[in-house]
Amino acid sequence: MPIEAESAGPSPRPASGHLEYGCHSQRGDLSQLFARWQTSPGSAYAGFQQYWHPPQPAQWLIHCPLHTSEHHSLSTPSSTGSLACVGIGITLGSHISPLARSHIESADVVFAGVSDGIVELWLQQMHADVRSLQPYYQEGKSRKQTYRQMVDAMMAEVRAGKRVCGVFYGHPGVFAWAPHKAIQTARQEGFQAHMEPGISSEDCLYADLGIDPGTYGCQHYETSQYMLYRRCIDPSAWLVLWQVGLAGDQTSKRFATGAAYRQVLVDVLTRDYPLDHEVIIYRATTLPIQSPRIERMPLRALPEADLTMSDTLAVPPCRSMQADPEIQARLTALDAGLAAEAAIPEPMT
Ligand SMILES: C[S@@+](CC[C@H](N)C(=O)[O-])C[C@H]1O[C@@H](n2cnc3c(N)ncnc32)[C@H](O)[C@@H]1O
Repeated sequence: MPIEAESAGPSPRPASGHLEYGCHSQRGDLSQLFARWQTSPGSAYAGFQQYWHPPQPAQWLIHCPLHTSEHHSLSTPSSTGSLACVGIGITLGSHISPLARSHIESADVVFAGVSDGIVELWLQQMHADVRSLQPYYQEGKSRKQTYRQMVDAMMAEVRAGKRVCGVFYGHPGVFAWAPHKAIQTARQEGFQAHMEPGISSEDCLYADLGIDPGTYGCQHYETSQYMLYRRCIDPSAWLVLWQVGLAGDQTSKRFATGAAYRQVLVDVLTRDYPLDHEVIIYRATTLPIQSPRIERMPLRALPEADLTMSDTLAVPPCRSMQADPEIQARLTALDAGLAAEAAIPEPMT
């Protein structure tokens, strides 16, 4: 089962004095890698060399968390405390990056804000001291208070001189207050703090729904914020509404709102979209054995839909993009000017 395959315990450490890059099957010495990169003008990277300035191997010694113990003493003296907030992606086991795994394994204490109890069990196979942040959530308790308590719990260990790793599902910085606040607090107090990105539900949405946000553009809002404030929606781009299961909750204390609240959401959406416009309820798979939820329905049916805390609403564009003739003309004139300049022969010297 994939869960077993991904839970094989801590990854082996690289040999002393040898820097590791990539995952288990891709070990190498970074200085050799850079040497190959610099001496391969015919490689796929050749054209990028003038733009891309890779760090010197010495910098990797300081910043790369895939370290040996002596590298570690160069980067993060444990007596001063440090914080890494890492994302482990959405789907158990398959989304975690080698860097996130390395932060988890090298921490003194791990805090887990993840989507499922099974994910916590999986984390416990990577580290002996995994503390769940889940008990801070309670129906009727303000989520703001919950998030502050999560920050306090992590910061207490940082202040005690521990290397702390906060593990969050998806991307730790996407629609997630506590990791940002914890990192900001740690830095303000003089501790080293780092955010390691993860695969968010947004990334899964693009893959599962076959959307390229570059085709028409894509706007993202937290659903209640979208409802409570007058936002300028562009209906020729995609609209993605997060926390749609909590639509219209002003208390920050509920785990769900109902049909009457979603009817208000529909009324707000009809300022820009017709009632028969198709919308998509989307839920990415948390466990590799599941299939994603991709449920299409007319906008008018949304109030009666069955929505959970993990669902996201995707609204496709309902009209084509409007051209801007004035800007197009200005750019065409600039192109014509450049073409005319290029056509003038160089004077003979
Ligand atoms: C507090 S945010 C956390 C998002 C997370 N940091 C991420 O990177 O995806 C919770 C919201 O993310 C979205 N979300 C979380 N899990 C999801 C999933 N499995 N599929 C689709 N959307 C999800 C939903 O909109 C949910 O209400």
